[in-house]
Parts: sequence; C-alpha cells; structure tokens
Amino acid sequence: MINVAVLGYGTIGAGVVQVLQTNADSIEQKAGDKIVVKHILDLRDFPGDPNQDLVVHDYKIIEEDEDVNIVVECMGGVEPAHTFVKTALLQGRSVATSNKELVAKYGAELIGIAKEKKCNFLFEASVGGGIPIIRPLTQCLTADVIEEISGILNGTTNYMLTKMEEEGCDFDEVLKEAQEKGYAELHPEADIEGYDACRKIAILTSLAYGKQLDFEDIHTEGITGISAEDFLYARKMKKCIKLLGKSWTDGRGHLYAMVCPMLIDDHHPLAGVKDVFNAIFVHGNMVDDTMFYGRGAGKLPTASAVAADVVDCVKHMGTHIKMIWEPDKLELSDFGGFERKYFVRMGEEVSLEEIEKAFGPVSVIEVENVKEKAFVTGVMKESGYHKAADKFDNIRSMIRIDE
Ligand code: HSE
Repeated sequence: MINVAVLGYGTIGAGVVQVLQTNADSIEQKAGDKIVVKHILDLRDFPGDPNQDLVVHDYKIIEEDEDVNIVVECMGGVEPAHTFVKTALLQGRSVATSNKELVAKYGAELIGIAKEKKCNFLFEASVGGGIPIIRPLTQCLTADVIEEISGILNGTTNYMLTKMEEEGCDFDEVLKEAQEKGYAELHPEADIEGYDACRKIAILTSLAYGKQLDFEDIHTEGITGISAEDFLYARKMKKCIKLLGKSWTDGRGHLYAMVCPMLIDDHHPLAGVKDVFNAIFVHGNMVDDTMFYGRGAGKLPTASAVAADVVDCVKHMGTHIKMIWEPDKLELSDFGGFERKYFVRMGEEVSLEEIEKAFGPVSVIEVENVKEKAFVTGVMKESGYHKAADKFDNIRSMIRIDE
C-alpha cells in the first residue's frame, strides 16, 4: 500500500483526493499497488467533508510519519511550498505538484534533489492543466531539436479574448463577466498581465533545452491593451488575437521567448482554440508540427494530471525518471533583434507619408466606423519598430503578427 499526503485542500488538492478515491480500483490496477490518502494538510478545518479526519494543520506530522511515501503539493505559491517539497524530496519521498510558480523558480533544484535521492519530482499539471505536455516534451520528443513552442497557456485570458472576438465586448466588460463566472480571480493580474503564461513558457522552454530559463528574462505583455476595435481589424485581416507564450529558434543559433497578444492566421491550429481551453503547438526539426489540446485549468482536469504523476511515482518507486533540467542559465537572444511585422493603430491626423517615412512601406487596413490610421508594417526588427514608433505620440495600439 502507498500512502499519500496532500498539501493544500483547495480546488486542486480536493480534486486530487477525489480522483484517487473515485478511480481507486482502476488506479490500483495501473499503478500496481493500492494508493491511499493518509493526510491532508490545510490551515482550515472541513467539517462535514468525507475526508475531514485526514486533515492536519502541521507539516511536521507528515514529515515525521514514516509511512508517507508520496507528497502531493497543491498549495500554490513559492513558500512554504518550496520548503515542504524540498524537505520531502530530501527524505527520499517523491512529489507531484501542480504549482507553476514553484516549478518555474525551483524546477532544476528540485529535480536535482530527486535524482540524488532516487525519487521523483513530477509536475505534469503545472502547464496546461490536464493536457499532457511535460511527458511529450521530456519523453516522446527527445529525438527532436525543438524549434518552436507556441502556447495558449492561460484559460482565463483565452476565455476573455474569445468573448471579445465573438460578442464584440470590450475588455472591462468581459473581465467583469469572467470574474462573475469564477474564471478570473478577484485580483486577476497574474492572468491578464501574462505572468501566469510567462511561468508556463519558462517551464516548457527549460525542459526543451535542458537548462534554466529564468521567467524574469522573458519579455511579457498581457491583454489589458486589447480592445473591441482590434478584433474588427483582425477579422478584416482574416486573423485572430491570442495571448501566446512562445519560445523559438531562428536557425542562426538564437533563442527567443516572449509572452504577448499576437495576431495569428485564422487557419493556424491555435486559432480554433476557444474559451477556457489551452493548447500547445510544438515544432520539432524531425517530427514537424504537433499540438496538444485540452482543459488548461479546472478541478478535475488538473487533478487528473497530478494523480497520473502519483501513479508514475508508484510505478517508479526507488528509481529516478531522468529529466534533464540543469541549473545552468539558458540565455535568450536580444528580443530587439528579432524581425516580424506589426499591426499598428494611430490617430487619423497623421499622414500616410509621415507613417511610411518612419516605418517604411505599410499596408493600410480600414474598417467601417473607426476613424484612425491602421496599418501593417513590413518585416522589421523589434528595435526598429520602437525607434519608428517613438516618433509619434498618438499610437493607440500595436499587436505583433505571428507568421
Ligand atoms: N489562472 C490559470 C488559467 C489557472 O486561467 O489558466 C491554470 O493555471
């Protein structure tokens, strides 16, 4: 029998307990052993909950219980999650977590400890919730050199952008609705400013290249500047607007990463990913294009991935599943040097001549009832775009075009 301690009995922690208990028989068959939840750590009590007697308030009880084999961390945030997880791994206990902040910051360190202690630190649910993406990257695609990862990595913002696109709503209106439906948090900055997607693309990129990509190094923009009018132009260009977490190589030894809203063609595989769904598009130099799609958040989809990690920990008890993520820093190339096209909107008082003098030849885009100058630049460096844009004080928005 395998004893599990679950840290955090919020949405995901409760989901993991539910998955392990509901599917106990089928999980036992697949794991080859019976898995039992022995402790649940939470500051709160849960009177009336069927698992109320398992709740403890002090991590020491779990630390000192020699019968605990696996720790599931669903507390979120860096501390005290990091201290508890590190302690468990140093004791030789495997850990499964859904915590992207923890993994993005300490993934290399915690994998290193797991390796040394012949146990496992698994985190399939930390990116894309229920979507299998960590195992594909670290197991199925290891024969490839990864040339691009482009992900819709945040369900809240994808829900908001889908609403804006389909119903013509403006940002504030759709944020309020997302909050009422419980998708966006009361303090939604991590989602709408792109910080959540930033941690997720940092994790995927670190795994793709086997080194530590610090999320602070990734240029990150959220969706707060996107308006209903942007979607009118997008439709005219047969494109849609998605918040993408991207990392890619340019074939000349440069690696780039960024999180920002981008215009992608209607026929791009990511264009059909709507509402709270997530998807990750991965291009390898041998396998070509692959895509992984599903629910990137939510109680049971996320818990399903955590519980599957628990099964893997049981299947590999006493052995370490090799995962390469060294602490050496993964250096990104200067973002200003990358070349692409830009969609720009500015006040109508500027002449086309002035625009082209600054940006070079542009393609003007017009939509009904919007009086302004809107255009797509030619291919230019990010630094060149900003140099040109600095000549104007009436730029209303700029969205990068992903081609
Ligand atoms: N806030 C995240 C999202 C939750 O909306 O995708 C899952 O990480």
